[in-house]
Parts: sequence; structure tokens; C-alpha cells
Amino acid sequence: MYGNSGYTGEDRMCDLVCDRYPVLQVMSRFGIALGFGDKTIAEVCAENKVDTATFLAVVNMQMNAGCNASEAAAGVSVRALTDYLHNSHGYFLDFRLPAIRRKLIEAVDCAQNDVSFAIMRFFDEYAAEVQRHMSYEEQTVFPYVESLLAGEKNTAYSIDVFRRQHDQVDAKLRELKNIIIKYYPSGSTNELNGVLFDIFTCEQELASHNAVEDDIFIPAVERLAADGVRDEKPEPLSAREREIIVCVVKGMTNKQIAEALCISAHTVITHRRNIAAKLQIHSAAGLTIYAIVNKLVELSEIKDTITDL
Ligand SMILES: [Fe+2]
Ligand SMILES: [Fe+2]
Repeated sequence: MYGNSGYTGEDRMCDLVCDRYPVLQVMSRFGIALGFGDKTIAEVCAENKVDTATFLAVVNMQMNAGCNASEAAAGVSVRALTDYLHNSHGYFLDFRLPAIRRKLIEAVDCAQNDVSFAIMRFFDEYAAEVQRHMSYEEQTVFPYVESLLAGEKNTAYSIDVFRRQHDQVDAKLRELKNIIIKYYPSGSTNELNGVLFDIFTCEQELASHNAVEDDIFIPAVERLAADGVRDEKPEPLSAREREIIVCVVKGMTNKQIAEALCISAHTVITHRRNIAAKLQIHSAAGLTIYAIVNKLVELSEIKDTITDL
């Protein structure tokens, strides 16, 4: 269960969601589907091919659940975190801010007075600022991270440049909210309250997004750049690669595999190389153990081959 040290992979996902419902947004940005029954966080992450340490780092930071940011940054997958941030940008730019704009227009009825018009202008300038902020991350920071993940030495850019210029995108939204609360001339309406609630929530969401970037993403990328290592989390195997493993552990040669799967021997070799890189397993005996443990084959199917190894 949840304690002072934050959530762990052993906690049940449904307990996490019921205790802290904003985690639903974190889940959808990681591509985790609902309908997980009583499974643990680690089990649900594994099923959805999400790195558990990265998911927990973001959850514990956003929930302020006693998380040590530098420890969290050490264990995360930079690729998983970058994908998460990219999906968050899509959420703010394509969904959250346009939805607030629509409600704001309805609430302030901009044809009616100059203040309404000025409020809409303030909001549009703010949305453009957020767009610029996130575009910079998408077009400059993330490609830099991709180059590090590909094992390239990139000296043209440094994450320190990002750290120094990374500003708080939530601050101006707070200002807009305060202006409306303090100075909006008309009385309080359900529409205006509704949009103010949304702005309060969006402001918190943006502040957490920034905190994940400052306290987890930047230190994790710094480590990646310093160590010069590739992302530590292997990519999942494709269906074709699993088929090839089954053939290999059954003792088939590359030529036999190529004929059985109607592909060239060259393609089989490329798949085998990729399998070895992803699993860090380079022998048929090692693949046999992997295939049995992961239930790709039954022991009875390969008994003869095992005695030949
Ligand atoms: Fe961002
Ligand atoms: Fe940012």
C-alpha cells in the first residue's frame, strides 16, 4: 500500500487511481489502458509495455508522494519519459487549451465589452507562448535526446542550455485567472466559474509538467550525455522476432527459417542480430531458456533440440 516513500510496483493500479484520480491523465499519456482488474502497477505497466520505473517516477513526483527526484531520475528510461512529455504537449496544445478557450468565449461573451475582448487577447497571447515553449522542446530538445539515445556524441547542443532558459509556462495562466477574479466587471456565472475551475486545474497540470521536466527529465538526460550510454531499456520484440526465436530454439538453420517464413536468409540474419541486441542473448541455448520462461514454446516441443545443444 501507499506509504511515505510513494507508490511501488507492488501496489494495485486500481488503488492508485482511486486514491489519486489525476493519475488517469498520466496513464493515458503513457498509453496505459483501463480494465486492469486487480493487477499491480508493475503488472499493468508490463502488459502495456511501459517502463514501470518511469511511470512511478512521474506518478510519485506529480502526487508529491515522498519521491526523491534525483533517485527517480537515475532509474528512468529517457525514451519512455520523452514519449510521455511529447504526449503531454499534445494534450495541452490540442485539447486542454482549445477547450478552455471555447469555454472562456462562452463565459465572457466577448461581443459585450472591452474587458472581455482584452481577456481573450490575453488568453490567445498566452496560448501562443505555450505553443512556442513546447515547440522548442519538440524541435530542439527532443531531437538532441534522440541523438544521444542513438549513441551519437552531440556537441552542438547541451541540456544545460535548456535548463537555463526553461521557464514556467503556468505563471501567466495564474495571472489571467487572478485578473478575471479581481477585475472582471460582470457578476459570477456558472459558465465563468466552470472556466475558472478549468484554469485552476490546468495551471496545476502545467506546473507538474514543468516539474517533471526540471527535476526528472533534465537530470536523466544529463546522465545520458555524461555516460554516453544508449537508453537502458530494450525495445520490445516484434511478432516476427518471436517467431524467429521459436524456429531457432527448435533447431532450424537460417535457410530453413527463411523458407518456413517466406523471407530471405539475409532478413533472418538481420532479425537475429536485432534479437541479440534487444535481449542481450547471443546463443541458441540462451534463447531456449528465454523462450521457455516467456512461454513462446513448450518444453515438450524442443526436448530433442535441448539434448543436441
Ligand atoms: Fe514540455
Ligand atoms: Fe517545458
